[in-house]
Amino acid sequence: MIYKKIKENIFYAGMNDEDRLIFDELIPLDHGTSYNSYIVIGNEKTAVIDTMYPKFTKEYLKSFDENGITKVDYIIANHGEQDHSGSIPAMLEKFPMATVVTNAVCANNLKEMLLIPDEKIQVIKNDEELSLGDKTLQFKIAPGVHWPDTMFTFIKEDNILCTCDFLGAHFIFDDVFAVPSNELERSAKKYFAEIMMPFSTVCRKYIKQIKEMNVSMIMPSHGPIHKNPNYILDLYEDWAGEKGKNVVLLPYVSMYNSTTEMINYLSNKLAEKGIPSIKYDMVDGNLGDLAIALVDGTTIVLGTSMVLAGPHPAAFNTVYLASLLKPKAKIASFIGSYGWGGNLFGKMAEMLTPLKLDVIEPVLVKGKAKPEDFKKLDEMAETIYQKHKELELI
Ligand code: FEO
Repeated sequence: MIYKKIKENIFYAGMNDEDRLIFDELIPLDHGTSYNSYIVIGNEKTAVIDTMYPKFTKEYLKSFDENGITKVDYIIANHGEQDHSGSIPAMLEKFPMATVVTNAVCANNLKEMLLIPDEKIQVIKNDEELSLGDKTLQFKIAPGVHWPDTMFTFIKEDNILCTCDFLGAHFIFDDVFAVPSNELERSAKKYFAEIMMPFSTVCRKYIKQIKEMNVSMIMPSHGPIHKNPNYILDLYEDWAGEKGKNVVLLPYVSMYNSTTEMINYLSNKLAEKGIPSIKYDMVDGNLGDLAIALVDGTTIVLGTSMVLAGPHPAAFNTVYLASLLKPKAKIASFIGSYGWGGNLFGKMAEMLTPLKLDVIEPVLVKGKAKPEDFKKLDEMAETIYQKHKELELI
């Protein structure tokens, strides 16, 4: 447990989970993650903002004893997902006079997921305030970042915003305050890709609102606290923007090297035209690298071998992930090689339909690519170049 004073009567009470290697059983973590909880002590009432991942409930509760927190009046649930709400039942046992304060959607989730009784929950509306005496909490309902039940809690007198998952990162630390670094940026970007990218439009709305609030500090529920809010707000603003970068993403899987050869050829042709590409091995690669690449890529060209009569399963996995994460890519195509026949691209193109991508003519070869196939790859590179120019990326 880390227990640290943030400001007068505001404390961090969170936990580094450095052994956590993967989140949501989906994205590998570089540095584990932290679960952040905050204690706000007014001269009349004490509130705890978000609690703890259930695995660490015992240590979390012990830290209240160790740090002399003998009374909790309110448990603020910014979000119902259990990495933040999981210790609420145990908190209510330890502090039976406490009331859980949250919005109506989250209240329903807490009742369904944690069996919190109705009478222990106080439902608040957007912008409603809760007085702790000389400190006031104001609630900003923020559906979509991350769940429909998410809200932010604003500590008014201190001008601090607790943003729950929003503006967070899977990152651990000794000191709780952010020190800008490439590692922190990569972790935050990967976190954004998995958790926030599907809701980029909503992210843009809240980034604008928070910038207008001109808060002094952002305290998320994962990753470090930002004393310079614009550091994380500017990064999120870039990642959530509508326009991708002059980058082509090349996920590939190849059984006999034919597809790899074509992917390498296309990558070199794109480089000659001033377009960087990111190759991603769909079998041996780290899904986190793919997620990060999806944040920036404007074009995705997926290369796959035929397995039996369809694409390699790893290709389906990538296409499905892309369809879930809703990246800002605008253009797509396929490259592939087959031995005896089948439908290589049809189902994948169908899965990508909701992304409304501009699909360029794919290149399909039997066995190894021949001179006429390389010519088609030249044409694909030229088409991508022209489209990136039209999008003013070059
Ligand atoms: Fe960190 Fe959506 O929970």
